[in-house]
Amino acid sequence: MKKKTNKRKKNLWAGRFNETPSDHMSILNASINFDKKLYEADIEASICHAEMLAGQNIIKTKEYEEIRKGLLQVKKEIKNNKIIFKNELEDIHTHIETRLIEIIGSIGKKLHTARSRNDQVATATKIWAREQCKEIDGLLKTLQESLLNKAKKHIGDVMPGLTHMQPAQPILLSHHLLAYVNMFGRDRENYSSLRRHNFSPLGSAALAGTTFNINRQETANKLGFEGVMRNSLDAVSDRDFILDILNLCSLIFMHLSRLSEEIILWSSPGFNFIKLSDKYSTGSSIMPQKKNPDAAELIRGKSGRIIGNYVSVFNVMKGLPLAYSKDMQEDKEPLFDSLETTKICLLVMIGMIDSIKFIPENMRLMCSLGFLNATDMADWFVEELNVPFRDAHKLTGNIVKMAELKNLPLEKLSLKDLKKYHSKISKKIYAILDIESSIRNKISEGGTSPLNVKREIILAEEKWLK
Ligand code: ARG
Repeated sequence: MKKKTNKRKKNLWAGRFNETPSDHMSILNASINFDKKLYEADIEASICHAEMLAGQNIIKTKEYEEIRKGLLQVKKEIKNNKIIFKNELEDIHTHIETRLIEIIGSIGKKLHTARSRNDQVATATKIWAREQCKEIDGLLKTLQESLLNKAKKHIGDVMPGLTHMQPAQPILLSHHLLAYVNMFGRDRENYSSLRRHNFSPLGSAALAGTTFNINRQETANKLGFEGVMRNSLDAVSDRDFILDILNLCSLIFMHLSRLSEEIILWSSPGFNFIKLSDKYSTGSSIMPQKKNPDAAELIRGKSGRIIGNYVSVFNVMKGLPLAYSKDMQEDKEPLFDSLETTKICLLVMIGMIDSIKFIPENMRLMCSLGFLNATDMADWFVEELNVPFRDAHKLTGNIVKMAELKNLPLEKLSLKDLKKYHSKISKKIYAILDIESSIRNKISEGGTSPLNVKREIILAEEKWLK
């Protein structure tokens, strides 16, 4: 008998090969270090596939039972770290199948009838990602709840609303917090729309379908899909669901990073609007007084790689011919990273919001800077004196100029001074210049009036927290 020159174990596809891959090729080729995460989803899909094969008389029921038992043992072994992963076995799918054959012998070789790793990997990734996204939706809900709780607690507290980071108009803190409830609400709607991807690729085999009389509807139903993907080429080539998930994460992070930025600003002594819990801050190794908002900074920083992950998979997919190409293995690390990072950052943000202490006195104090009531004054000229808004704007601008020179807020200007700008100005104007009236009068739908905000809290609770 001819002596084997290559001692390495042969791959599952070794039939047409004389040599095994080089060590360097094995390193490049292997995805096991990251796709091992998929083992439960892969085994679940494999058991379903084998059961269907038995139901269709493609394998015997007894064989299915053997396969099922074997796969459950493989699952246990992986869970208990009993299986040593090897680069030469490439990915989690091959590891599971190889181990199954080791355990139950050649019946295990029947599992791969009427399927390919191409439909297998798409199916397992979908099942796995579906669960992860559901968790993320739950965390978004909790974050909305935390924000709503703070909004309720601070229902009447005021703060300066800024545009261009400059004083603009007074608003309710609760109104500001509700803006984020809405933003994370859109993320949750984005999550719901992922449902359109919940169709099964399994049974598309390599690209063309299969000669076997399989029942795709059955595996789809049992695996929690709404139906089957209608084109076998599309089914094995599609990674739109991954791009949509990465986009979902990117939008979540765009929102999280904006909230983080505000937390960072609000916690700096210049603002001093909030006190962060020690649990979400760190100190400096040299400056003893420091308390840094690291959690918020990290979340803001991580948004870079989350958006990067989206761009990365987009670039992998664009221009790929149908059907499967190995490029597509590059979908996993970005997907795994984005989902994990999103989960941990949402958990931290929830903790940070729950433990934040707002300092309403300081927010109110800052409302006295920067003529936040100037627009109210202009509106008063329009309503009371019938001045066209453009002229009212100019008139108020001139008054602000004077107030700045006198170093006084608008409400402290004397009626005599005001009358210099318009003879009909009466003392009634002072009634609309205080912060409370300014806010109370913003009665337009979606505005910051307490009436609106209270109603929006109730609506938001009904819509998002049921
Ligand atoms: N590890 C591969 C991936 O993640 C599985 C599919 C391999 N298919 C193939 N024809 N080589 O994409």
